Amino acid sequence: MNLYKFVSDAINDKLGRPVNLEVPRNRDFGDFSTNAAMVMAKSAGKNPRELAGEIVPKLMELDFVADATVAGPGFINIRLRDDFVWDAAKHATDITPAATPMVIDLDYGAYNVAKSLHIGHLRTSIVGDTFNRIAKMLGHRTFSWNHMGDWGKPMALVIAWIERLHPELPYFRDDFDPATTVDFDINPAELNTYYPAASSFAKENPEFQAHAQEIKAKFQDGHAGYFALYEKFLAISLNMMNDTVRRLNILPFDYDLGERNAAKYLPQVEEILRAKNLIQESDGAQVIIVKKDTDNAPMPPYMWTDSRGADTYDSTDLAAVYCRLHTDNPNKIIYFTDMRQSLHFEQLFRAADLSGLFKYADMEHIGYGTINGADGRPFKTRSGNAAGLDDIIDAVNNAVDARVRESGKALDSDTVDMIALAALKFNDLVHDVRSDYIFDPDSVTSFEGRTGPYILYTAVRLNSVLKRAGTIPATDATPTNLTADERNLLMEIADFERTVQSAFDNRATDMIANYAYDLCQLTNTFYHNCPILRDDVAADDRARRLAIVKMAADTLGMAIDLMGLRVPNEM
Ligand code: ARG
Repeated sequence: MNLYKFVSDAINDKLGRPVNLEVPRNRDFGDFSTNAAMVMAKSAGKNPRELAGEIVPKLMELDFVADATVAGPGFINIRLRDDFVWDAAKHATDITPAATPMVIDLDYGAYNVAKSLHIGHLRTSIVGDTFNRIAKMLGHRTFSWNHMGDWGKPMALVIAWIERLHPELPYFRDDFDPATTVDFDINPAELNTYYPAASSFAKENPEFQAHAQEIKAKFQDGHAGYFALYEKFLAISLNMMNDTVRRLNILPFDYDLGERNAAKYLPQVEEILRAKNLIQESDGAQVIIVKKDTDNAPMPPYMWTDSRGADTYDSTDLAAVYCRLHTDNPNKIIYFTDMRQSLHFEQLFRAADLSGLFKYADMEHIGYGTINGADGRPFKTRSGNAAGLDDIIDAVNNAVDARVRESGKALDSDTVDMIALAALKFNDLVHDVRSDYIFDPDSVTSFEGRTGPYILYTAVRLNSVLKRAGTIPATDATPTNLTADERNLLMEIADFERTVQSAFDNRATDMIANYAYDLCQLTNTFYHNCPILRDDVAADDRARRLAIVKMAADTLGMAIDLMGLRVPNEM
């Protein structure tokens, strides 16, 4: 239940016009406040305080309002009835499905074949996945696309490198028979070294560079041998990607289809573009002009083919839109990548709109900032190399391990993994996607403060109270005498659906992480001030508090699920 929306709708109804309803950070004076009187005073020709005084009795007629008071220059504070708050919290996790559910294609992950995953793939995976879960929770139909980099020059460089290492293999012959079985295996760890090696070698060797270009053209034209070799390392890469999906505990992708798949649709898209006269020649390349008269910033043309006539990142991205249109037919397409790709997406959206494939307004790019090390520069490994995704995961695991050892606790390795996962993902989610943040394995693994382990710790604590209590005694009457700590916690619980909705509307996954943190803080204050299982607690109080623990556990559990964290049995 969306408590905020319920109250807001009822007040708008009562006053016959939409008014601003604020949730004050400090609930001492009320659960909500409105500046309605101040906004309406002018047109009503009254002074705001006087008008507020007239609005208050109307608000008091609403059966869920316990009290409404005028404050300051004409604010109205509204306090809800305890029994109403209780019922709202009880239904906090009953999410009302969207009235008009959308079909949304989500493009995130987007790993590259034959290139190891790096730190840049962390945020797209984590934020994309949480956004996917949020959209699903609200009743939208989503499709996640791992738009793999599996078609461009890196493939050619890897093929060329393998040719250098094993020239005797039959894959490189133009008359390669696809029915041939070749006794050749690639070692997964080695595969990751091929692309960096080939790419630096190519920089010094124009011949090798040119040969790779040739391979790329033949590969994209369907060279049977190159393709057979490609399928070998594709399989290895897909395995590594699946490993990452598992390690990060993100939902499996609906489609592991990237540039190569999209390339199949290039002819259809080209036909559309030509019919609209959108393709132009420019320095030997074929381009789409996406610049508008109103542009202030430079807006380069969108590359349809490069000067060698090859497919590009641009062309396959446009073809991917065509493909999605004909598979999912989405209402929206949302892309999650590094902010540095903003220009590319602006161009893509314009090209898609011009071609009539997809409306500009229905495509979105969520560009995220950079993960920096303690020195404020892009995070590097201890040895000074650009960090791979596995390096990051390992660094967090080690930090958790050290902490656990220091504390003298004996936790199994599965629990350590869960804590590390929470530390890593929560720290990513808690920051505004657009901003850079500092990744420090030590501070993200702290059990106190705005961290993943703190969230898990609170969840474990709630679960253990419930376990120790056994069954929760029934509370016969809806409580009307809540303490401030109970009430504050219940109000936060009841704010869950609104948070999920705002996180979706604002494309702001950090709202979920920050909500989870606030919920945990109120939970721990409540736990500290309101004894539950102690012998001297009256049966009534115990029953009420256990019911609150259950509501908090359920709600926190849902927030934790949205973040894709796993909760251990003990910590
Ligand atoms: N594979 C690219 C990378 O690793 C990101 C692709 C993002 N998605 C897209 N449709 N362009 O940088």
